Amino acid sequence: MRKNIVAGNWKMHKNHTETLALLEDIIAQKQETATEIVVAPTFVNLKAAVDQVTGKNITVAAQNMHQAEGGAFTGEIAASMLTDIGVQTVILGHSERRAYFHETDALLASKVDTALKHEMRVIFCFGEELKDRQKNNHFNIVEYQLRDALFHLKKEDWKSIILAYEPVWAIGTGETASPEQAQEMHQFIRELIAKVYGTEVADNVSILYGGSVKPDNAKEIFSKPDVDGGLIGGASLKAADFLAIVNAF
Ligand code: PGA
Repeated sequence: MRKNIVAGNWKMHKNHTETLALLEDIIAQKQETATEIVVAPTFVNLKAAVDQVTGKNITVAAQNMHQAEGGAFTGEIAASMLTDIGVQTVILGHSERRAYFHETDALLASKVDTALKHEMRVIFCFGEELKDRQKNNHFNIVEYQLRDALFHLKKEDWKSIILAYEPVWAIGTGETASPEQAQEMHQFIRELIAKVYGTEVADNVSILYGGSVKPDNAKEIFSKPDVDGGLIGGASLKAADFLAIVNAF
C-alpha cells in the first residue's frame, strides 16, 4: 500500500549553519510517525544533512540534478554525485525549475530516466497555471505533463516514482487549492495511471499535494482519500510548522 510522505522543499534558503540548526530542531521535536519525512536542502548542504539525519528516519532529497552522467556542464550536478553522498531521492520538475530554468517535460523525461538508472527515487512535480484553470483546461495540462515526462516508463519503474501535484497558482502565494480541488485532481491522476498502468500501480503510487500547505490547512487536505502527503515550501523552514504538518495525518 502507498506511503504517506511529507517533504520539505527548502529551495534556495538556509546556509550551512542554518541547515544544521533546522535539522537539529526537526530531529529534537519529531515524534514517532509512520509518515515518511523528507527534507531537501540546497546542494552544498546535502552531505552535512545526510550525516546529520543518519539513523533518524528522515530522508534527504536533492532539489534537482542534471540528466547527463557527467562531463562539461559547468555548474551542474550528476546523479552519481548524489548517490555517492547517500542521497537517493531527487525532486524533478518543480514549477520554479520549469518557469525560471526552462525545463520541459521532454527534458524531465530524460532526468527521470537518469535518476532511475541510478536507482534513485523521484518526486515528480507538475501542475497547471492559473490561466489553465481559468480556461478549465487543468486536467488536460496535467495529463500531458504526466504523459510526456513519465508515461514512457515501465510498470516496475513506478516503484521509484512519487507524484507531487502542485498547481502553480498556489505555490508561495498563500492561495491553496481547496481540499476538494486537490482531491478531484488527485483522483483524476490516479484514474489516469490506472488506465495506463493498471490499478496496482495506481493504488501504490503516493500523490502529494503542494502549494501553500500550512499547519492550519494540512489536516483537511490530507484527510482526502487520494492525497498521500505534501510537498511543503515556506512552511518547511520552521521545525514546528513542518512537524505540525507531518503530524496532520
Ligand atoms: P509553498 O511551496 O508551500 O511555499 O507554496 C510549495 C512548493 O513550491 O513545493
